[in-house]
Amino acid sequence: KKIAIGIDIGGTNTVIGAVDQEGNVMVNRTIDTPKHGDFDKYMADLSSEIKELINSLKLMNEETEILGIGLGAPNGNYYNGTIEYAPNLSFKGVVHLVDGLKKHFPDSYAIALTNDANAAAIGEMVYGGAKEMKNFVMYTLGTGVGSGIIVNGDLVYGHDGFAGECGHTTLIPGGRVCGCGSLGHLEAYCSAPGMKRTAFELIAQYNAEDSLLADKSYKELTSKMIYEAAEKGDKIALEVFQKTGDYLGQGLADTVHHLAPEAIFLFGGPTAAGDYIFKPTYESMNRHLLPIFKDKIKILPSKLKLGDAAIVGASALVWKELEK
Ligand code: BGC
Ligand code: NA
Repeated sequence: KKIAIGIDIGGTNTVIGAVDQEGNVMVNRTIDTPKHGDFDKYMADLSSEIKELINSLKLMNEETEILGIGLGAPNGNYYNGTIEYAPNLSFKGVVHLVDGLKKHFPDSYAIALTNDANAAAIGEMVYGGAKEMKNFVMYTLGTGVGSGIIVNGDLVYGHDGFAGECGHTTLIPGGRVCGCGSLGHLEAYCSAPGMKRTAFELIAQYNAEDSLLADKSYKELTSKMIYEAAEKGDKIALEVFQKTGDYLGQGLADTVHHLAPEAIFLFGGPTAAGDYIFKPTYESMNRHLLPIFKDKIKILPSKLKLGDAAIVGASALVWKELEK
């Protein structure tokens, strides 16, 4: 059986999976993504986890052939194999991920890196709900907001490999500070931390001490809690979704005007809230769209399992590399 290792580097965790060519995650392991930027140690830790994962496959008695390692990371650059100036990671400046791993796996495997949201888009295209689509965009909502753009069946990398940073489009001139330092970016409103900020703003604005969210600290509060409170009819929680959808729909409309996709997929923790987030997003998008696009562009939930999508997508990058 042919296997690719898919790795999803997130703000908190790094998940490493062994994935077969049908997109099944056979085993996976999780390590912390460093909080204080020790990159060399991270490369050593990641490599030993990969080796242990490969050993555990052997113990499962599977006849396996490991063909490569695919990685998805915020601000990852496919051309350079680097992560560059990531606002939501602790590494400073430019770190050489592909070279760093190659030191630990000299000439054994194909190793390729792309942006985490690009990996999710590839996963959706190869294994998810976009198998029949040639033009779509994937938005990932998490600690940050990422996107992967597929045009005519190909991922768009752009001139320097960084295309598709839709989370950093400006929604509100002079608005909230984004993790990257600029003001008013979509990410500052529609990421999981952005939704939390909206919740606290609304609680303060309405003096809503009776809200189910009112006694939570910023650290405690999660997008899941906001969803659960909305289910119980909590007015603040419902308005958080309404506002988040208003903001996101505005951003998606820009994406539609730029690219005319068939659909936009949403993926990540906040999308577990279903209609609470999809409905206001769809309505807002349509309010901002030209008549030629109105009610023609689908907003769909990713068909990939939440924990798996980026791993599966990163593994699919390996198969794509080997096809070349
Ligand atoms: C980064 C993107 C990344 C996204 C999700 C954004 O802040 O700029 O590169 O895809 O977060 O992790
Ligand atoms: Na991207």
